[in-house]
Amino acid sequence: MRKILIVVLMLIATSVTWAASDAVFSLRGDSSLNADSVDVTDRKWRDGEGTVVRSYPQQPPLVPHSTEDYVITRDSNDCLICHDWQSELPGATKIGVSHFENRDGQALSSISPRRYFCNQCHVPQRDVEPLVLNVN
Ligand code: HEC
Ligand code: HEC
Repeated sequence: MRKILIVVLMLIATSVTWAASDAVFSLRGDSSLNADSVDVTDRKWRDGEGTVVRSYPQQPPLVPHSTEDYVITRDSNDCLICHDWQSELPGATKIGVSHFENRDGQALSSISPRRYFCNQCHVPQRDVEPLVLNVN
């Protein structure tokens, strides 16, 4: 009898947990994890407004222009067309010396593999609402 009671109590406890987990909403709202998230390309680029001021000294600067058409693959990197030191394009900030160092601090003659995939660190600036507001 006691065993049956324990099993029944465990079943009730499990169903309560299930019911509670149904009510949890993530920042994605109630959309399924498999569904695509909102397409951010619909949102406004902050193009031509200058770069948003960096918040801390080592912050990778935000990208003040659209990056939609610039492709980075193993063999080619469109960002380097303008930002590499060899580029003749005036106005595009040349990538800093830190981007030519390997992890031991040795200078390389071309971009370090650690800094090759620019959009790992540099994100385009967009007019979007913060997902989570600051508490204070
Ligand atoms: C056609 C040339 C061109 C290409 C290609 C290009 N950029 Fe730029 N980029 C510029 C110019 C010009 C500026 C500075 C002027 C501006 O738009 O404010 C700039 C500014 C930036 C800045 C801000 C630098 C600073 O001083 O704060 C970053 C970061 C940047 N680009 C990253 C990228 C990345 C990452 C890519 C590839 C996805 C890329 N750019 C591709 C021309 C280019
Ligand atoms: C691992 C992160 C990382 C990657 C990858 C990366 N950067 Fe940066 N980038 C930074 C940081 C951090 C800074 C600011 C400090 C510095 O200059 O190192 C910066 C600075 C810059 C600047 C401003 C330089 C200046 O003198 O103000 C430009 C332009 C830039 N990066 C372009 C690029 C491009 C183009 C690529 C791809 C070829 C790239 N970065 C890849 C982290 C990164």
